[in-house]
Amino acid sequence: MISKASAPGKVILFGEHFVVYGEKAILGSIDKRIKVTSETNKEKLISVSSSLGQLKIPITESYEELDSPLKPFFYIANEMIKKFNHDGGIKIVIDSEVPSGVGLGSSSACCVAGAASVSNLFTKLSREEILELAIQAEQTIFKNTSGADCTVCTYGGIIEYDKKSGFNKINSKNDFVLVIANSGIPHHTNLIVSKVKKFKESHENEFSILCKKEAELINKANQALEINDLVVLGEKMSKNQEYLEEIGVSNDRLQDMIKMAEKNAYGAKITGAGDGGCIVALTDEANLEKTMNNLRSGNFECFSAKIDSKGLDAF
Ligand code: PMV
Repeated sequence: MISKASAPGKVILFGEHFVVYGEKAILGSIDKRIKVTSETNKEKLISVSSSLGQLKIPITESYEELDSPLKPFFYIANEMIKKFNHDGGIKIVIDSEVPSGVGLGSSSACCVAGAASVSNLFTKLSREEILELAIQAEQTIFKNTSGADCTVCTYGGIIEYDKKSGFNKINSKNDFVLVIANSGIPHHTNLIVSKVKKFKESHENEFSILCKKEAELINKANQALEINDLVVLGEKMSKNQEYLEEIGVSNDRLQDMIKMAEKNAYGAKITGAGDGGCIVALTDEANLEKTMNNLRSGNFECFSAKIDSKGLDAF
């Protein structure tokens, strides 16, 4: 039996890092997808292949010591094999349009599409159950994940998310184009989240003021999204960037890229953990090409993306 599923990558439009401490964040899924194809077989092996490499382990072997970005797939496959007493293995193939390790949610999209594709070999899970399995899988490589990325990859569109109340879909027109540019600096979410934790511990007061400012900014951004006010939305993105600079997750290259984008875009900021990875700029048809050209003239790889409204596609 073969089962296919796909899930979109994502950008964080507002609130990364602050979301780890209970504040709201706004995330959008993008029209770049990860497709996962799973197949049961008689070999007692779990095999995973993607552009990141190939791995095969016997179903009896523990995946826990694996040091691989593909670990979540072994977790999902293992869970399903145990739960359904499957007397064989699973072959998983990943096909991705989302660059990995740059803050575009490639691991979350893999976990969501992986959870859907593998579980569909045995049973029909609801979106909620797939999301739960995907978050558990992501926790095998990122223990403290807020769950926000997997949530937006599952439901699509733009969501407001906080750890306590979960997510709310924002009813927005999404009549804009995002420009996403890669700094070429790899980023490691775990390390940057730890760095922010240290910053918070040594600057309690400053951090709590920034959390309040971020919450106010997100309320205004939410209103701007509802009426597609790109001027205000862009202004709030650039303001959010200032807060991220204050907590120490930006650097000269990212700041240069943001300035290049801001020459024409409505606003720009880091997206995701920062210290490297990508920036996201807000444009529409009027300033899209100019913004892309500004970034390309600085030799930065970039692409345009729209908000995806579908989320997980497995049904
Ligand atoms: O860079 P990414 O896609 O791994 O995003 C991390 C977002 C953080 O807020 C820094 C962490 C989290 O779990 O929300």
